[in-house]
Amino acid sequence: MGRIKGIILAGGKGTRLYPMTHAVSKQLLPVYDKPMIYYPLSTLMLGGIVDVMVISTPEDIGAYEKLLGDGSKIGMHISYGTQDKPAGIAQAFLIAEDYIGNDKVCLILGDNVFFGQNLTRTLNEVIDSDHPATVFACQVGNPKDFGVVEFDEEGKVLSIEEKPQNPKSNYAVPGLYFYDSGVVEIAKKIKPSKRGELEITAVNNEYLKRGELYVKTLGRGMAWLDTGTPDGILKAATFVEAIQSRQGMYVSCIEEIAWRRGFITTEQLRKIGEELSMTDYGKYILSVAEGTK
Ligand code: DAU
Repeated sequence: MGRIKGIILAGGKGTRLYPMTHAVSKQLLPVYDKPMIYYPLSTLMLGGIVDVMVISTPEDIGAYEKLLGDGSKIGMHISYGTQDKPAGIAQAFLIAEDYIGNDKVCLILGDNVFFGQNLTRTLNEVIDSDHPATVFACQVGNPKDFGVVEFDEEGKVLSIEEKPQNPKSNYAVPGLYFYDSGVVEIAKKIKPSKRGELEITAVNNEYLKRGELYVKTLGRGMAWLDTGTPDGILKAATFVEAIQSRQGMYVSCIEEIAWRRGFITTEQLRKIGEELSMTDYGKYILSVAEGTK
């Protein structure tokens, strides 16, 4: 298995969240007790991905660098790319062309939150497989708002459409995509859609045409939330708070995941906890380092 690069797309104008996003990038807004981007970052980390490129607007990218640095503190390599205009999700592959090189790539949207028991296993199954392209399918009540995938009993994809008027199924495609390095050439070939964007759905349709698109269903035990609206942020925050206060375990604490996945040592974890020991977040990290969690 070759290396795999992660990309977090955290650009866009965040217009659905004005005035909150007038001066602050959407994916930096808090979801309960952490910046939104911690959630997609932790999903990549659970997959064992240590090389990540964060893509945002030229105005906002500095704030992400301030937040995450070069990633070495949590045993990662984090680099940064900029998108001048929000010309589509698939543009991420053009921006990251040199970064991807000949490696596989996992793209996650900066406003997608995943939480569930089998998440780590599911991610690792996909990463270890030799499928050229994998997307996921989640049952939703409002498929019209998403990319919608239709598949047969064997899981073979029949169609994939972006925000269809008449959805062919109730399965939305969440913002988490796995591709081989060929995705860059595909992204170069696709034409902008009617709304002028390089659609990720067009990329998926190209893989489908080649018979190379695989879909994995995320069952009812997996929570997929998107935080692109005020309501979405509130619901995700309430969800995270409920899990954390009930279990006493944090959702998407990136330092904890770095330690559990072996990116950093217990000593490194303890040091981070000590620096933040005036907060509940820091106290939690310390308790993980001390083995009481
Ligand atoms: O959340 C899953 C859905 O994400 C998928 O089901 C759809 O197939 C996919 O097109 C996408 O739909 P959205 O309507 O959520 O896409 P949106 O344009 O809102 O972009 C999603 C995020 O990506 C948004 O938070 C900002 C960021 N973005 C988007 C575009 C188009 C960028 O950073 N740059 C961009 O050019």
